[in-house]
Amino acid sequence: MDLSIFLSSILFISLAYKLYQRLRFKLPPGPRPWPIVGNLYDIKPVRFRCFHEWSQTYGPIISVWFGSTLNVIVSNSELAKEVLKENDQQLADRHRSRSAAKFSREGKDLIWADYGPHYVKVRKVCTLELFTPKRLEALRPIREDEVTAMVESIFRDCTTPDNQGKSILVKKYLGTVAFNNITRLVFGKRFVNAEGIIEEQGKEFKAIVSNGLKLGASLAMAEHIPWLRWMFPLDEAAFAKHGARRDRLTRAIMEEHTVARQRSGNTKEHFVDALLTLQEKYDLSDDTVIGLLWDMITAGMDTTAISVEWAMAEVIKNPRVQQKAQEELDRVVGSDRVLTEADFPNLPYLQCVAKEALRLHPPTPLMLPHKANANVKIGGYDIPKGSNVHVNVWAIARDPAVWKEPLEFRPERFLEEDVDMKGHDFRLLPFGAGRRVCAGAQLGINLTTSMLGHLLHHFHWTPLQGVKAEEMDMSENPGLVAYMATSLQAVPTPRLPSHLYKRVAVDM
Ligand code: HEM
Repeated sequence: MDLSIFLSSILFISLAYKLYQRLRFKLPPGPRPWPIVGNLYDIKPVRFRCFHEWSQTYGPIISVWFGSTLNVIVSNSELAKEVLKENDQQLADRHRSRSAAKFSREGKDLIWADYGPHYVKVRKVCTLELFTPKRLEALRPIREDEVTAMVESIFRDCTTPDNQGKSILVKKYLGTVAFNNITRLVFGKRFVNAEGIIEEQGKEFKAIVSNGLKLGASLAMAEHIPWLRWMFPLDEAAFAKHGARRDRLTRAIMEEHTVARQRSGNTKEHFVDALLTLQEKYDLSDDTVIGLLWDMITAGMDTTAISVEWAMAEVIKNPRVQQKAQEELDRVVGSDRVLTEADFPNLPYLQCVAKEALRLHPPTPLMLPHKANANVKIGGYDIPKGSNVHVNVWAIARDPAVWKEPLEFRPERFLEEDVDMKGHDFRLLPFGAGRRVCAGAQLGINLTTSMLGHLLHHFHWTPLQGVKAEEMDMSENPGLVAYMATSLQAVPTPRLPSHLYKRVAVDM
């Protein structure tokens, strides 16, 4: 067949199908889609801001076409409730890009699994076994070790004679805590020694993470236009090689843990030990165990570092907040010991600062994409089975209809009104809500609050020399997770006696 006839028949079929959908369903309004590409070329890189702008024109529920796939974005708290509570189960499947499908072996893990018996089982393992308050508490020394190591390293770097009064790149220190914390929690491994030297397995681990990101980013265009995929074939060999490399490293670590368990006769608290000892009880395949371990790495690493970077940027921009948080820390913790998680209940303002940062800067502003496994109605519109549904939690948390002075960074708002952020109040959803709510929410909250508390207790912070607080760049990078576009540079000045800047190392 002549290529032009082939292409025009495809075009015709796709237009006819669109028309059929339009007539059959009452879809939410939205920007006019172009043939074949839909709205792909109209979407600005920082998607949640672009969807927010469109919602100002078309209303709080909009249709956006990624090629031939319908994406529905909701941007107010009532509609978020309809998605995440009233129609939770029908909207609990996941959209898997081709790379997510490969990485997760078609959803054999948790994050990318569709809703169904496998998902329910694996989620149960998370709730009843991995993220119990008991295990969270047992793993607390790891968090405290890493947070105090961060304090020690900032202190060392900002007190050397050459560096005094100079700024540091805050993200570098936060990233190290997030990395070490998650690899220790999941694999029982601190890949980096006290001198900052990374060992062989750690290098391999980092190489796998960055290769995964590279592979994931290589497919963008054909992703949404299925019939174009023949022109952009998935590099099967590269994905298979990546998968094999990841399995090899993970299996080697699993084997080390099995041998250690047999030798000592007791089970450690790390996720790898928990999953290996529960594998039979819950009938988990090796793919699922490996998938779950890596899920925790991907979901738990960037999110915590991002949250604290934004919180620090806001605190530095708002000296009043910094001073108030430090007054509370000085009153409750004092200056002859360091903060621990046991102090949290006595530090309501610090908790409010962390919460206010998650309100204005949720690290996953559109959560993760949900997918409809049935036809449902949201806000009076049809959402056909197979559509993707996104909740713009960033926009909802800034909606003037439900927040007073929404753009102000004012932690006191949560002292005046206690707003839940773990999925019960649909105005504030940094962790999502419903069946697919973040599995690691409490861990995320503990770690971010602890990092923030230590940074503020140990140091006074000012902006990079020459930058006025009101001129700090508070825009976001494009992507599924929202890093600051301009990484935070700030000047720390120690404010406690020097013997309190020592790492509290634990061997676990
Ligand atoms: C401040 C830190 C964090 C934030 C803001 C955050 C936020 C989120 C959000 C918005 C989702 C998607 C919810 C949905 O699709 O409806 C999610 C899912 C998830 N998160 Fe987190 N997260 C954080 C930290 C963590 C940590 C530390 C872990 C584990 C170590 C973790 C593990 C997960 C997992 C496994 C899922 C998938 C749940 C599912 O699909 O059923 N998260 N998170």
